[in-house]
Amino acid sequence: MKYSSIAGTGGYLPERVMTNAELEALVDTTDQWIRERTGIRKRHLVAPGQTCSDLAEIAARRALKAAQMEPAEIDLIVVATTTPDQIFPSLACLLQQQLDIHGCAAFDVQAVCTGFVYALSVADQFVRTGNASRVLVVGAETMSRIIDWRDRNTCVLFGDGAGAVVLKASDEPGVLSTHIHADGAYKDLLQVRGGLVQGFDNAFMEMRGNEVFKMAVTTLGSIVDETLAANGMDQSDVDWLVPHQANIRIIKATARKLKLPMDRVVVTVAEHGNTSSASIPLAFDEAVRDGRIRRGETVLMEGFGGGFTWGSVLLRY
Ligand code: ACO
Repeated sequence: MKYSSIAGTGGYLPERVMTNAELEALVDTTDQWIRERTGIRKRHLVAPGQTCSDLAEIAARRALKAAQMEPAEIDLIVVATTTPDQIFPSLACLLQQQLDIHGCAAFDVQAVCTGFVYALSVADQFVRTGNASRVLVVGAETMSRIIDWRDRNTCVLFGDGAGAVVLKASDEPGVLSTHIHADGAYKDLLQVRGGLVQGFDNAFMEMRGNEVFKMAVTTLGSIVDETLAANGMDQSDVDWLVPHQANIRIIKATARKLKLPMDRVVVTVAEHGNTSSASIPLAFDEAVRDGRIRRGETVLMEGFGGGFTWGSVLLRY
């Protein structure tokens, strides 16, 4: 068993929907500006009292059901999140308890919007080395809790949600390669300063949107080249692009780089905005469930986020 492969997918968006029209009442913005500059039409928000682990649990149970696996069969849990319920225990341990799983390793990965790509990469290494064979990989976020709802530069962009996959050991790929990067020199582009040093008052997202935009387009272009070269493939070998859902203009730029028509790109940003580490597994789950992505097809996932972090996963579904 040399490879990891996707046994099942799941996703969950909380019920409360916030439209662009509602945001017009909160900040100086318009539905037209948000749609034209970002492609976002609405986002989903957690209810008061609903936790990130609650979102993760629903997505995880759906992925387990799709994989026809019981929670007790899982031997590793990796959760990507930037918005855990508490400093510790990790969201992965809280999720483990909610799923009534006992004893297997469970930990969080924090790479902001690249989190799911990082988590999948880590999980894949565990499977390849024979240290795990049935892994639950989750991206879950409550971004609405680190948004300043008075800041039009950020509040229009983000939403809450969770996505999950179950990986299992396999003789056939599966995950073909993963590529992860970071450069802390760009930490000021995108950050939440709040924490143990500064305190948690005003622990809100700050973003230099224009610079993030340029950095995203450049790094996503280079990660596409790196991923294809590592696998001896060219653009025509990729059936589907499942990108991080931050901005339709960034997604279109990456699709152009891949010479991939937009009908081979999974786009969900209009429906839920940027859900950070949840966005790639949510988009993947949607396209698997509606039958677009089929067994045997080649899928490129790519993401970028605060840190600055960026990365990709190439897999055969
Ligand atoms: N409504 C109306 N006007 C706005 C809004 C808004 N919500 N937000 C900004 N503006 C204004 C700006 O103030 C500016 O006005 P000015 O020209 O008078 O100064 C004008 O619109 C243009 O601003 P830009 O920042 O140049 O607009 P741009 O076309 O770059 O779009 C955006 C802004 C959507 C933020 C874009 O830069 C972007 O998507 N950047 C990437 C952001 C991103 O992906 N972040 C997530 C990273 S993942 C993670 O790790 C969390």
